Amino acid sequence: MNPILLQNFIELISDYIGLHIREQDYDSLCNKVFVRVKLLKYSSPEQYYQLLANQNQASKDEWEKLIVLLVVPETYFFRDRGQLELLQNVILPEIIKYKIASNEKNIKIWSAGCSTGEEPYSLAIMIQELIPDWKEWNILILGTDINEVALKTAKKGIYGNWSFRLLDEGIKKKYFYEFKGEWHLDQELKNMVNFSNLNLVQDDFPRNNDLILCRNVLIYFGEEQISLVIKKFYNSLVKGGYLITAHAELYGQRLGEFQVKVFPQSLVYYRDEDKEDENYLPESLPILEEKRIPIKKSWQSLLKNSSSTTKISIYDGIGDDAKKQILFDLNKKISLNQNNKIAIKTLPQTSNIQPSKSEELLLEAEALFEEKDYTDAIKKAEKFLIINPKDIRGYKLLAQLYANIGTYERAIFYCNQAIERNSASVEPYYLLVNIAEEQGDLEGAKSFLKRIIYLCPEEIPAYIELGSLYAVEKNMTRAKKMKNIALEMLKKLPADDIVEYKGGIKVSDLIEYLEAV
Ligand SMILES: C[S@@+](CC[C@H](N)C(=O)[O-])C[C@H]1O[C@@H](n2cnc3c(N)ncnc32)[C@H](O)[C@@H]1O
Repeated sequence: MNPILLQNFIELISDYIGLHIREQDYDSLCNKVFVRVKLLKYSSPEQYYQLLANQNQASKDEWEKLIVLLVVPETYFFRDRGQLELLQNVILPEIIKYKIASNEKNIKIWSAGCSTGEEPYSLAIMIQELIPDWKEWNILILGTDINEVALKTAKKGIYGNWSFRLLDEGIKKKYFYEFKGEWHLDQELKNMVNFSNLNLVQDDFPRNNDLILCRNVLIYFGEEQISLVIKKFYNSLVKGGYLITAHAELYGQRLGEFQVKVFPQSLVYYRDEDKEDENYLPESLPILEEKRIPIKKSWQSLLKNSSSTTKISIYDGIGDDAKKQILFDLNKKISLNQNNKIAIKTLPQTSNIQPSKSEELLLEAEALFEEKDYTDAIKKAEKFLIINPKDIRGYKLLAQLYANIGTYERAIFYCNQAIERNSASVEPYYLLVNIAEEQGDLEGAKSFLKRIIYLCPEEIPAYIELGSLYAVEKNMTRAKKMKNIALEMLKKLPADDIVEYKGGIKVSDLIEYLEAV
């Protein structure tokens, strides 16, 4: 397809449904367009573009068909156990308590981008479990999607075993009955959920929602469309209402008016009109449960080049002279240090330019980190942030420090702060991958890795790690695909180069290892 026409299709799709087509997906998009061109017996893709661009019924009908080819409908019951536990144990009970206290027995929940309906039905199950007299309440659960084929399945409420891959057998038997090898939803539960077609980019949103779930949808959107949809979500919530997305989806995005609550299982966003400062740092974070499992792998161990990593952590956000001096000092130290450890413990005493007081604090904090004196390192890094509240290096270091002592909710918070300050930085995402893996949250780990790949398509360790997670899930097709991408990129590198994967490995050795597994 000619590149200008391809670009036009990409823009049209982004404007219509928000989907951001990445460069590596261009071929796949062309194939999909040609499938439709052939089926419609059109003579050219230009003719097909015109059909889509027209704003009439024929265009609407064709979009419906193309959307089925473009979107990812993957979903299942009780997807992301951590988030669902958070909903069941904290968010929903809080909403229910508030409603009872204000004598309003009504709750409005919206699952936006619900695909075949497993998510809103999971919410209905939770409501039935949490509110014994739910029949006395006015519960509205709405599932919407842009994919008409998925919505038809949702409305039927009949599922195969694959949709229950994470659902407790007891719950399954309580709310479903088996018929001819398929699982049919209990009629009362089915009646609790309404479905309708809604395009998040184009359509008006339902109002006064207490809770919105929009998970694994925005990850495919472009930045402009995400920020448009976030604004619309904010306006469609009641004051105090919650928005929950999948783990990495809003990292690095402008959250507009939303405030953030940090829980070990997930960040959640809420509407609070009393908010004064968008970038506020809460004095103390809500702590649900502290898991003190030390992070075994360092996030730095996944990065592609440790010497450049060191420079990045020292460089971000400081002036050119200071950069030059620090690079000079670092190079000296790195040449002495074969292990490529962060070489900032003993800056040469002869240095002409002394680091500023706050730089000293950061250097000391990093040195204490290296010595595994995490408590003192945290104190220094926090002092550094008080002086330099906008400096991403402080947030990155604190994130790593809190992760290392197992205080994940704080680590996640500081990762998020680092990402908000530099949305292109992949390091915080690596730490989020590690935390998610430590917590057994495979879905979370995968979505952070996808985000890394999205931000930095040449990030070889991310493909390898994602491949190994797919292998854990026994999704061997995707596992193989990730491995092959990594191999293809590795084979373009000099054989003796070091890839900073799992502490540093020679390109030729990594190729050999990947080819063997
Ligand atoms: C991967 S599924 C997520 C399903 C469910 N939320 C979950 O997390 O399991 C993504 C869904 O988003 C829907 N979607 C994509 N773009 C959309 C848009 N512009 N408006 C509404 N839904 C959209 C897709 O049709 C698809 O069903």
